[in-house]
Amino acid sequence: MKDVYILAVESSCDETSVSIIKNGYEDVATIINSQIDVHTKYGGVVPEVASRLHLENITMVINECLEKANMSLSDMDAFACTYAPGLLGSLLVGVEATKALSFIYNKPLIATNHMMGHIYANMIGNKLSYPLISLIVSGGHTDLILMESEDSFKYLGSTLDDAIGEAYDKVARILDLPYPGGPNVEKYAQSGKPTYKMPQIMNDESFNFSFSGIKSHCNNLVHNEHQRGHEINKNDLACSFQNCVTSHLVDKTKKALLQYNIKTFLLSGGVAANSFIRNSLKDMCDEIGVEMHMPEKKYCTDNAAMIGAAAYVLYKHKKFSDLSINAQSHITLND
Ligand code: KG4
Ligand code: ZN
Repeated sequence: MKDVYILAVESSCDETSVSIIKNGYEDVATIINSQIDVHTKYGGVVPEVASRLHLENITMVINECLEKANMSLSDMDAFACTYAPGLLGSLLVGVEATKALSFIYNKPLIATNHMMGHIYANMIGNKLSYPLISLIVSGGHTDLILMESEDSFKYLGSTLDDAIGEAYDKVARILDLPYPGGPNVEKYAQSGKPTYKMPQIMNDESFNFSFSGIKSHCNNLVHNEHQRGHEINKNDLACSFQNCVTSHLVDKTKKALLQYNIKTFLLSGGVAANSFIRNSLKDMCDEIGVEMHMPEKKYCTDNAAMIGAAAYVLYKHKKFSDLSINAQSHITLND
């Protein structure tokens, strides 16, 4: 069969990324232009600034990617973009650029769901077998999904309040650690001990998650200690928080794998770059005889390679979009 090359664009938040993916699993070239340095000054992503920077960078990043791959736009079999969910103004830049390429080169346009991208980051350099259960842990989502096949998504549970990445970022702010919070909380936790008592997180029969209680608990704890004139041990609090949220992920995931008798587990999303979470879920999977897949860390946080991998699945099923497609801020995997 002829090789299929897809040029994919990701611009849903604060990374302008372009990738060329061969046959859905080979990363030919990926460029990630991060805006972190700019947003750090504001303590978080400023949507208007993000879309402006995407606009300034998109052409350059496309060209850089083509140069790295030593390919040209006419070599592509399709053009893919993230069209949802994410920041509307940011998404629009990638969507419109990709539409233009698809129109000019008369090749299919593949509008790709960002969350599907996170899941299929697991396909890069890897083969998957179904059925499987997938856990997405990102800045906006914490979803446990049953996949009977490569294009079927049954939500088993989701967060009822904050996403886990959001909780990491808020705890970082409480501890006065710079944006982006998640990696910094992980760094502090590495040399800490779980000495602070954490609340019992919702341990019900559902597969849903909740992270706002622990976030408020950390906030109150720091506030009370400051009022008493006590110093907070940031390493120990980061470690206590991380242990607590990780147990929550492990407990719910284990319950779902056992209840549905599923033997393959996928981890994905920006928070999946966290070594403690990776190792804890892996230990649980080993204990119950489940095969676990997780993307390389560079494919966990936002990148266009994962969009190219997901787009290839849509390409195979001929799920193409026309030029009327628009960016959307909120959608599920089944919309
Ligand atoms: O998937 P992602 O790059 O963007 C979204 O789609 O949301 O995820 C970003 C989230 C942020 O909340 C960030 O703090 C978190 O992932 N994150 C981490 C780590 N690396 C990124 N959280 C904990 N530990 C990490 N090492
Ligand atoms: Zn993401």
